[in-house]
Amino acid sequence: MALEGRDLVSIFDFSDREIEAIFDLADEMDAHKHGCLKLADGALLSTLFYEPSTRTRLSFEAAMQRLGGGVISVADAGMTSVAKGETIADTVRIIESYADVIVIRHPLEGSARVAADFASVPVINAGDGAHEHPTQTLLDLYTIRREKGTMRDLNVALVGDLRYGRTVHSLAFGLARFGAKVTFVSPPGLEMPGYLLDRLAKEFGCTPAECHSLGDVVTDPESLKREGGRQKALATEVLSTFDAVYVTRVQKERFESEGAYQAAKRGYAITEELLSRARPDALVMHPLPRVDELDYGLDRDPRAVYFRQAAYGLPIRMALLAALLGRRSVTVKRSRKSDYRPEPRREVDFRKLAEVPCPNERCVTNQESYLRPQFTFVKHDPDLVACAYCEHEIPSPVAHGEAE
Ligand code: NCD
Repeated sequence: MALEGRDLVSIFDFSDREIEAIFDLADEMDAHKHGCLKLADGALLSTLFYEPSTRTRLSFEAAMQRLGGGVISVADAGMTSVAKGETIADTVRIIESYADVIVIRHPLEGSARVAADFASVPVINAGDGAHEHPTQTLLDLYTIRREKGTMRDLNVALVGDLRYGRTVHSLAFGLARFGAKVTFVSPPGLEMPGYLLDRLAKEFGCTPAECHSLGDVVTDPESLKREGGRQKALATEVLSTFDAVYVTRVQKERFESEGAYQAAKRGYAITEELLSRARPDALVMHPLPRVDELDYGLDRDPRAVYFRQAAYGLPIRMALLAALLGRRSVTVKRSRKSDYRPEPRREVDFRKLAEVPCPNERCVTNQESYLRPQFTFVKHDPDLVACAYCEHEIPSPVAHGEAE
């Protein structure tokens, strides 16, 4: 029962082997995706959504019902006591007395961690602002495994809004952990945040090539540039080597103004012409919804797997719910191959110091007043500490030894 009672707030909460065990169970669940199992008899799932959703909420609810459990649903938290000022902590402490597992989506970064800290039932993060979306990563990796037969050592491009896209923040690490070579393609200003690049490089040895458009990837003859201390690589004809191209929309809701959004998304779309230069067996993926970054003409291309990708969300979420509720044991295989395993967080003790706020204004600690800022040591860099909720980093105000 390795996963019973656990939370899934970050892709770092599960080891590589646990992720693979969920996938093995999802393979089994796939046969029942149109039926009704008795696995979750008597159990209730509560969804708690403060942001719009189609796939994530409905596939969680369908998954619970296919397992034989019930659902109580908050599709719009604005219609609950949240509108009267109720906090995340109090809301989940109420819901836990009605439901056995909570799935939360919220615009603030670190909000799902708060829910998990306060709720005694398992909490699943269905997207916390621009931070993470770990169950999307599970279904993205599962899609690759199903469609390619393996998710190891692949060559994958992540394209689009890498700054605010929470799916790619979780997925970049999921891919790196399974040995992928990754390329980041984003419009100027929407690049992958530096602290995530540093963690990818220092903790997982993954240094993605970066460029501004897939067109650059194809035509730019320069192979390597150094910029700002980070590797910038633009390899010729890379497009023809990708096993998968994962496209995301520009996250309109994270921009200050319509003008800033329009400027950021200009000139960025995947066309049939561009894809004619990709491998015949490449996957074109997208977490959906798409806006105008994926041509409708692409839908006919057998390489376009985004609708199947969304469908894989059902067996994945059935497997996850069955495992967290302890209704099905999963087999976590031992392996001599390297395996990322979650470690207990080592918190920095700031008692001797003035309280330091998290520098990220979209962090939950800056919005919910009962929360104290908390920081943890950064494994790969002794000079930094990271917010325990949103993971934004600041220079460490204490020496490691001093704070322990
Ligand atoms: C994504 C999300 O909500 O982050 N959607 C999803 O869950 N499938 C991607 C997006 O909204 O762009």
